[in-house]
Amino acid sequence: MAGRLSGKVAFVTGGDGGIGSGVCRKLAQEGAAIAVGWFGKDPTHANAVVEEVKAMGLPAIAVEGNVASPDDIQGDVKTIIETLGGVHILVNNAGFENAHDILEMPYDAWEGVLNVNLTGPFLTGQACGRWMAANGGGVIINISSVHDTIPWATFAHYCASKAGLTMLTKCMAVALAERKIRVVTVSPGAIATPINQDVWGNPELLPKLLEKIPWGRIGQTTDVANAVAFLASDDASYITGSTIYVDGAMIQYPEFQKGAV
Ligand code: BGC
Repeated sequence: MAGRLSGKVAFVTGGDGGIGSGVCRKLAQEGAAIAVGWFGKDPTHANAVVEEVKAMGLPAIAVEGNVASPDDIQGDVKTIIETLGGVHILVNNAGFENAHDILEMPYDAWEGVLNVNLTGPFLTGQACGRWMAANGGGVIINISSVHDTIPWATFAHYCASKAGLTMLTKCMAVALAERKIRVVTVSPGAIATPINQDVWGNPELLPKLLEKIPWGRIGQTTDVANAVAFLASDDASYITGSTIYVDGAMIQYPEFQKGAV
């Protein structure tokens, strides 16, 4: 299939989820073979994404692994390279959140979010980056959040993980530039996915959320996927270390944190 990503292989962690499955779909539309990373859930969703990509005429596999486990990730990346022939594009999309008052937040909640959202991208970036460095370069796209900048009172671990991820992008971009690996951040705002369905699916809370978005609508997974496809392509060959906010200008409202829904 002709496209901006023809001949490339993309590994999308959390590729079975809301934003992740949208990214897999879009990168495949651009011609990339896809490895759908998933962990700890019903495999039906990952397998459905694989079948969808295959139906488009492109190779696809599902790889199960905990992004916070060095052994799992090294195994997954080995499988991807052996099966699909390489890993030119990594999209660090796996992540999660849960609300806690900061003084009552259990250590496990803190550790769990930091492990998946921040340590995960470090481990996958390292494993894929080694292949990229030895094979002419590549692109690493870290999916952060407007909450890499906007504080959110009951999501301190999530905000800290995303702020850390955005800084990890910058450090890796500088460290890997001479090895021809671009590293960028995409920071979505409120995107309609299962992660925040309790808000956008609630007729009382949705208008409160929309007040925080100057563009006046909630984002769609295609909004994020389109930005990721551009950044993964050679159209973005001079963009590295940057953060692209896909948020309808939500980031421009710093008073968000008090009234967050
Ligand atoms: C969170 C969503 C939230 C959005 C805007 C995202 O990072 O995952 O739950 O709706 O930020 O606050």
